[in-house]
Amino acid sequence: MLWEDTGELVGKRPEQLRSAIAAKFAEQETAGREKKYGAVGSLDYELSGFVWDCAENITKRERIFGLRDLVETLAPVDKRDCFTVLDLGCGDGQSLFALHAHFGLSWENIVGVTAEDSRGVEVLAGTEPFDLRNAAGADSEASYVVWNIDDLVSCPCLRGRTFDLIVSWVTWIWLADPVGTLEMIYENFLRSGGVMMLGGVQLLTPGPDPMEDQRWLFALSDFLIKEGHQIKCFADASSGAYTWWIQRKRSCRLALSRLVSYCEDTSVHELSHKALYDINADVLGSLACRYAGAGGDYPLPPRAIAASAEIPSTRIYDNLEFLSDAERARNAPTLKIQVPRSELDVKSCIQAWMESDV
Ligand SMILES: C[S@@+](CC[C@H](N)C(=O)[O-])C[C@H]1O[C@@H](n2cnc3c(N)ncnc32)[C@H](O)[C@@H]1O
Repeated sequence: MLWEDTGELVGKRPEQLRSAIAAKFAEQETAGREKKYGAVGSLDYELSGFVWDCAENITKRERIFGLRDLVETLAPVDKRDCFTVLDLGCGDGQSLFALHAHFGLSWENIVGVTAEDSRGVEVLAGTEPFDLRNAAGADSEASYVVWNIDDLVSCPCLRGRTFDLIVSWVTWIWLADPVGTLEMIYENFLRSGGVMMLGGVQLLTPGPDPMEDQRWLFALSDFLIKEGHQIKCFADASSGAYTWWIQRKRSCRLALSRLVSYCEDTSVHELSHKALYDINADVLGSLACRYAGAGGDYPLPPRAIAASAEIPSTRIYDNLEFLSDAERARNAPTLKIQVPRSELDVKSCIQAWMESDV
C-alpha cells in the first residue's frame, strides 16, 4: 500500500462499498415511520455527560453542550443574519425550526438533510408529530432536503454551498462510510473558520474489537492535531465505541488518504454494512499506543505503552479538591476513566481556536 495524498477518500470507494452505501440508505428511507429511531428531531440538540460531583459524591447525567451553545459561541446576535447552518440527519426538522424561530437565522441560510421526509409523520410512538410545513410555512420548504449524506457531493441543491456550522446528532452511526464522509463534508461543505460537530463517528478495521479500533481513530485525530488542525475528539460514554468529532476548518486539507484507505479485499463489515478501513500503521501506530488497550498484530493497534491514557469520554469529574488523598487513591480506577470538567469545556475550546486566528 502506497500512503500518498491521492485526493479525497470518497473518490476511491470500492464497488462493494458503493452498494453498501445505497443499501444502508434504502433502510434509512423508512426507518423513521417504522419507529426504529429513539431520537427523531429536537429543538436543541444536547451533548450530555455523566458527571461525578466529588463534593456531593453523586453522579448525574447532565447537559454539557449543545446546538444552542454552538450558535451562541460562533455567531453573536448581530451576525446571525448571515450565519449558515447545515444539520446532517435533521429528523423531523425541529432543529431547523429552532434555528429560524429561536436563533433568528433566515431560512435561506439553514439546510437540514434527512434520509426520509418525516415532517408530520408519527416517528415516535405516542408523540405528536412535528410538521415543519405547518410550523414554518412554505419559506422552510427548500431548507428540508432528502438526500444521502454519504453521497452529499452529488446533491444538486447543495452544490457550491458552504456553512459556518455543520452539526450531526445521532446520524453518523447510520452512515456506511463514516470516515470518508467526514472528510468529504469537511472539504466540501464547511466554510473556512467554520465548525463541524459530528456525533457517532466510528472507524472500523477488520480487527475483532471496535474498542481497539477507536484507538486508531484517536491516533488519526492526534496526527492531524499535530499538523495544526483544530480538532477535539472524545468518546460518548453512553455508547463507548462512538466518538464525537469537533473540528474547526483551517486552510489545510485533511488528506486522509495518507493515513486511511478502504480495505481492498473486504471493504464492508458483514454485520454493520459499514466500510472497513486499512490504517497507515507505520505512521499512526506510535500515536495509537498512547491509548490504553491490549493491541496485537495489525489490524489491531500496537499494545499500549506504560504511560498510556484512557480514551477521553463524556465521563467527567467535578470538584476533585473535595477528595482527600486517601479518597483519591481509593477512587483511582474511576478517576482514570474520567476527565476533569475543564477538558470537556467545548465552548472554551472553540473560543480558543477562534482567538488563535488573531
Ligand atoms: C436517529 S435520527 C436523528 C434525528 C436528530 N438528529 C436527532 O438527534 O434528534 C437520524 C436521522 O438521520 C437521517 N439519516 C440516517 N442515515 C442517513 C443518510 N445516509 N443520509 C441522510 N440522512 C440519514 C435519518 O433519516 C434521520 O433524519
